[in-house]
Amino acid sequence: MQGIAVECAHWRRGIGSRLLRFFEEQVRKLEKSIISLGSGEGFAEQFYLKNGYKPLEIKAKSADSIVLAKERVRDYSDGIVKRERLRRELKPNEVIFIMQKEL
Ligand SMILES: CC(C)(COP(=O)(O)OP(=O)(O)OC[C@H]1O[C@@H](n2cnc3c(N)ncnc32)[C@H](O)[C@@H]1OP(=O)(O)O)[C@@H](O)C(=O)NCCC(=O)NCCS
Repeated sequence: MQGIAVECAHWRRGIGSRLLRFFEEQVRKLEKSIISLGSGEGFAEQFYLKNGYKPLEIKAKSADSIVLAKERVRDYSDGIVKRERLRRELKPNEVIFIMQKEL
């Protein structure tokens, strides 16, 4: 999945989760069973965790989106520790979580 967004005036009312469930139903109808995505930093991570997505790896990216490093993670807290280390060592523009859900 490339991305999902809700107008900020309507955040925290369950609309994003409903959109995501609708998307998941369409994917199931196509007889696909895995959704992968790169979560933006910040609360988007909480949004995907709450909706059942599991962190698989983290990717450190430069300002021009070049992948500087990627590491497998056991779970979200392992990813947080590894993310802090990559931030210190590489000074990337961002470190994103790659998450996955099996339908
Ligand atoms: C991420 C986004 C789509 C969520 O939409 P939403 O309609 O607010 O989502 P929901 O109401 O279904 O939220 C579900 C859960 O996500 C988490 N969450 C959502 N917004 C949050 C926030 N601002 N702060 C902390 N947690 C948040 C919470 O766990 C929330 O559950 P809760 O309200 O019961 O605590 C919306 O915030 C958005 O459009 N953000 C900007 C674009 C973006 O970051 N997209 C993701 C890019 S990868």
